[in-house]
Amino acid sequence: MVDFSLTDEQKNLRELAHDFAAREIRPVAWELDRDSTWPQAIIDKAHEVGLMNTHLPEQYGGPGLDYLDGCIIEEELSWGCSGVQTSLGANGLASAPVMLGGSEDVKREFAEELVAEPKLASFCLTEPDAGSDVSGMRTRAVRKGDKYVINGSKCFITNGSYADWFVVYAKTDPEAGHRGISAFLVRRDDTVIVDKKEDKLGQRASNTATITFNETEVDARYLLGEENKGFKLAMMVLDRTRPGVAAMATGIARAAFEFACDYSKERVQFGVPIAMHQAIQFMIADMATKVHLSRLAAWNSAVLLDQGKRNTLESSHAKRFAADSAMEVTTDAVQVYGGYGFIKDYPVEKLMRDAKIMQLYEGTSQIQRLVIARETLLPRRIEEPATATA
Ligand code: CAA
Repeated sequence: MVDFSLTDEQKNLRELAHDFAAREIRPVAWELDRDSTWPQAIIDKAHEVGLMNTHLPEQYGGPGLDYLDGCIIEEELSWGCSGVQTSLGANGLASAPVMLGGSEDVKREFAEELVAEPKLASFCLTEPDAGSDVSGMRTRAVRKGDKYVINGSKCFITNGSYADWFVVYAKTDPEAGHRGISAFLVRRDDTVIVDKKEDKLGQRASNTATITFNETEVDARYLLGEENKGFKLAMMVLDRTRPGVAAMATGIARAAFEFACDYSKERVQFGVPIAMHQAIQFMIADMATKVHLSRLAAWNSAVLLDQGKRNTLESSHAKRFAADSAMEVTTDAVQVYGGYGFIKDYPVEKLMRDAKIMQLYEGTSQIQRLVIARETLLPRRIEEPATATA
């Protein structure tokens, strides 16, 4: 049976997230963007009301929400401000490999910490010379007794300046390409150095940093999954987080679409509101369709995960379509506003800047097309561990 109607519980979650976005995020979003201000007060409140760490299992004190629930929340919070949502949601990206690859003790230790306090964690995959090409990374982890020693730099790390711990991917067998990468859980200490905070085009309320690990020692029990199986772990994580990114893109597009609708009914040209002109109506119609289909694609890719199925193809469909649509919808919203759309006194230019990152992070739109093409032309059977529930 195919049924897209939400349960009462899901409607309540949506209302909770929407009210939070409307009361706590929207009123300050443009100010946070202007000054690139870190939204600590919002993070504290979101943690208090249960809008962070939503996928952490109940057995570790988390809310144990499923992936569809996550998409519902992420769309609403991103409607408020996707930069703030990136800050709130990065714990989901960092805790996914822990839940997939950590021992029972490690899962409990880190999940309980995140649930107890508004702590942050970062996912450290990308390097200056290894963006789309993950296996080109140079960060090195060398085993010494019951520890690993990590050296290397990671860039574009969300929440990097504020994270208490990091999931770091590093080469444990530099000659083995993607089969020589391992993932580690690393606590912040004085060997972890924030080299640079980025000054970004959009999502300026989020923190993006370059982090260097300088002789950083990690207990061997913090190896996530098996040694040299980190690449696969990273891909499994991205399959699980891309539906949420698609939902975020939907939230940005929806915000721009709503602003454009309202403005088109107020702005009078040639003696009538511009919404009366077919040129504007057709833009509004295309925007509405893109928002609607982005949401459906995000939900579809999330529901597959909730059913325990592999969603590689569908999560790339959703991420690619929703990200590209968000860019198109926000650009059209600026067009509906005309010259005013280009001016910072009006809300839509921020949304257009914010939308751009959706086509870049968690795999560019070109990488999603690569995955879609491979999954379509040469579908592979990929075995995942039975415990893959993060
Ligand atoms: N699930 C499980 N395993 C998978 C998989 C999946 N979805 N996709 C691939 N694999 C496995 C393959 O089966 C293969 O396994 P074997 O070793 O057994 O052969 C192995 O992984 C290698 O696969 P590929 O040959 O497909 O690897 P590739 O080098 O060609 O890369 C890629 C594939 C899709 C390009 C991948 O590198 C990729 O997704 N790149 C983009 C990386 C990315 O999204 N980075 C974003 C960083 S996160 C972020 O943005 C952080 C933030 O803070 C917001």
